[in-house]
Amino acid sequence: MKPSTSPRPLSAALQDRTESVTVWGAGYIGLSAACALAGAGFPCTVLDTDGNRVGQINAGVVPLPGFEDVIPLAQARSGGRLRAASPEDTAAVAARVHLVCVNTDRDGRPVTGPLTEVLTAIAGARTGGETLIALESTVSLRWLDELVPAALGAAPASDPSLHLVAAPRRDWMLSPEMNLRTLPRVVGTARPESLPLARELYEAISEVVHPAPDWRHAGLTKPVENLYRYLDLVLTNQLAEAYPGLDVPEVLRLAGTKWNVPTFHPSIGIGGYCIPLSPRFAVDGAGEDTGGPGAAEDGLLPLVAAAMAWDGDHPARVAESILRIADGPIGILGLSYAPNARIVEGSPARRLAEHLLARGADVLLHDPYFTPEEITSLTGARPLSWPDDLGGLGTLVAVTPHDLYGDLPARLAALADPPAVVDNLGSYGATLRGTAVRYAEWGTPATRPAAEPRP
Ligand SMILES: NC(=O)c1ccc[n+]([C@@H]2O[C@H](COP(=O)([O-])OP(=O)(O)OC[C@H]3O[C@@H](n4cnc5c(N)ncnc54)[C@H](O)[C@@H]3O)[C@@H](O)[C@H]2O)c1
Repeated sequence: MKPSTSPRPLSAALQDRTESVTVWGAGYIGLSAACALAGAGFPCTVLDTDGNRVGQINAGVVPLPGFEDVIPLAQARSGGRLRAASPEDTAAVAARVHLVCVNTDRDGRPVTGPLTEVLTAIAGARTGGETLIALESTVSLRWLDELVPAALGAAPASDPSLHLVAAPRRDWMLSPEMNLRTLPRVVGTARPESLPLARELYEAISEVVHPAPDWRHAGLTKPVENLYRYLDLVLTNQLAEAYPGLDVPEVLRLAGTKWNVPTFHPSIGIGGYCIPLSPRFAVDGAGEDTGGPGAAEDGLLPLVAAAMAWDGDHPARVAESILRIADGPIGILGLSYAPNARIVEGSPARRLAEHLLARGADVLLHDPYFTPEEITSLTGARPLSWPDDLGGLGTLVAVTPHDLYGDLPARLAALADPPAVVDNLGSYGATLRGTAVRYAEWGTPATRPAAEPRP
């Protein structure tokens, strides 16, 4: 290793915000972090293997449909402090400060490839001086303990030149107000000496920073907070299965009037990549502190293991229920799990379409954020032409309440023979209930017809 030629201590350069920061990954997490850092005064380079994303950012275009108004790219670029590049950009790879924001999941499973690649590249470019690496990507404890030291070829807790930080993100990306500036930030470091540097960096972009005892505590916070939500949502869906004769959404609305109970709604599936993956990240590394075998399958976290097993069968159960009440071609509105965004990861509509098709149903699907060709290649379903095909459907499953579908009730009311509607989240109940359109909110008795009598 050659000695660092940088004349300034990292702490001083972070303090006056002259230090260049390299952000790995130009997804929502990386790009929003880079914009925030550039806005706070740091020269910032975003690296991504996706050439399209790099090109679009350098042309001033947010490469994430639906997030154009949420990520302040134009503002960040106007100061001249933000650029994008490929991971071959040697100057950016050799920076002293790195934010790692690459994806740590693919097709509904945790993946280690991108994180390993990035850490290996950073390690290869180190010249012996101080390096700060902040992990914003979701990680498991096992990864912190094993993958990160192996990829860096260094011991995080004892290498004095290395400042390793876990700074998980908890944005609700569909709400402009709930972002990395406004949401309290949990930050922990592998060595206590690194904490002041991490605080310097994160207090520049987040209003509230909660220091964790170390980076393991910080890293585990993210899977754990999402795990609570996952377990609540699985329980919600279990309640709908357990009481087919009751209006379970109404029970949950009533339960939600208690001061410490949130209001949940049963659904055709838990979507996205944070909540459904949280149990996998949370169990990976459990029990290792005690020298035990670890992991849920060895008996730790049995509640989590049971929830994952039940939830794994949920799409098949949902498809069976829908087929019991369906009649004619089945239309699905919404592929993205969240409204007004293009996110196919963890799409419950996709799982439903696959299960319905596997059972021989005729399935059409529409989402304004995906082309007809993408709809078919991603789900196998026929593209549904909105709104022209509505009249030809027997059943319509309204999965994602995109704004485009706001006039769905009026469109259905205007049809001579409208399809029966299964409403995933109860979004259209206020306007459709009690009209000529047959309407069933998911989790009510209408979506749970009596099972075949037992022989
Ligand atoms: N999106 C959220 O709301 C959210 C919230 C909390 C945490 N997270 C976590 O943050 C991380 C990133 O999430 P995201 O939504 O931005 O992901 P994303 O998939 O949209 O973006 C990741 C980017 O990393 C790039 N990439 C992959 N390998 C690379 C490499 N070797 N070098 C450079 N770039 C590479 C990909 O091309 C992609 O553009 C994940 O771990 C996710 O779990 C996301």
